[in-house]
Amino acid sequence: MKDVNYSKIFIKYEKDPLRKKGIEESLVRVLRENCSKEEPFRIIDIGCGTGNWLNTNFNNLSYCKNIEWFGLDISKGMLSLAGEKNSDFNLVLASADTLPFFDNSFNFIINEFTYHHFKNKEKPFGEHYRVMRKKGNLIIRNIVPWEMSDWSLYYFFPTTGELDRKRFLRTEPLISILSNTGFKNINININTMHGNEYKTVDRWVEIMNNRTHSELRIISDKEYFEGMKKIKDMFINNRKELGKILNNSITTIFELQARK
Ligand SMILES: C[S@@+](CC[C@H](N)C(=O)[O-])C[C@H]1O[C@@H](n2cnc3c(N)ncnc32)[C@H](O)[C@@H]1O
Repeated sequence: MKDVNYSKIFIKYEKDPLRKKGIEESLVRVLRENCSKEEPFRIIDIGCGTGNWLNTNFNNLSYCKNIEWFGLDISKGMLSLAGEKNSDFNLVLASADTLPFFDNSFNFIINEFTYHHFKNKEKPFGEHYRVMRKKGNLIIRNIVPWEMSDWSLYYFFPTTGELDRKRFLRTEPLISILSNTGFKNINININTMHGNEYKTVDRWVEIMNNRTHSELRIISDKEYFEGMKKIKDMFINNRKELGKILNNSITTIFELQARK
C-alpha cells in the first residue's frame, strides 16, 4: 500500500472545513478534577496534523493553567502549521511506532483519523499505553469503512473502499489490540451521518479536486483522474444526479474511550 506524504498536501489539507475540531467534552470533564492540581496535566495528540484539535481545546481550556500541550506527527509540513497556531505547543516530529517520551508521561492521549497510516497496528498502541499515566484517558476516532458502502468518495473512486478495508481496523480487532495492550474500560460509540458532509455540491467537488483525502492518494493517478472526470462530467451535464448521489452518502465514525 502506498504511503501518504502529508508534507506534500498540508496547505490544501488545512483548507478542508471538516478538519476543524470541536471541544473535547470528555477532556473538559476530566479537567474538572485536575485543573487545580499543581502537577502538570499532560495532553498529547498523536498524529496531530495541523494542530486543529490542540488549538480548539487550548483556546477553550485556557482557564486551566497547569496543562502542557503536546502534538506528535510524522510530517514536518503538517507540524509547521500546528506551530504557527501556537508557540506554546510542544511539537514533536516522530513516528507513533516509537514515542520519544518516558513511561507514564501523559494524562490524556488523543488519536484521531490517523491509525490507518500505521503499518503495524499493535506497536503504536503499545506505545500509547506505555507513555500514559495510570488512570489516564485515551480517545481514538476514525471512520468505519465497512459501514460506509454508500460514501460518495467510494462511489466515484471504486477501488478506495477495498483499500480502506485493508488499512483500517474493524472495531472488534481494535478493542482486542487495546485490551491485550492493557487498556481497560473500553467503550465505543458509533455515529452515522447521512447526506453531503460538505453541504454543497460545489464545495464537495472542490474538496475532491484538492485530493487531500488519503483515499485519493493511495490510488494510482490514472484511477484518480478517471474518477474526477466522472465527477466533472456529471457536475456539468447532470448536476441533479450528482446532488442525489451526495445526498445518499453515508459516513460512519466511531469514538473509542479507554483508561489505563
Ligand atoms: C488524516 S491526518 C489526521 C490529522 C489530525 N489528527 C486530524 O484529525 O485532522 C493523519 C495524520 O497522521 C500522521 N501520521 C501518519 N503516520 C504516522 C505515524 N506513523 N506516526 C505519527 N503520525 C503519523 C500524518 O502525517 C497526518 O498528519
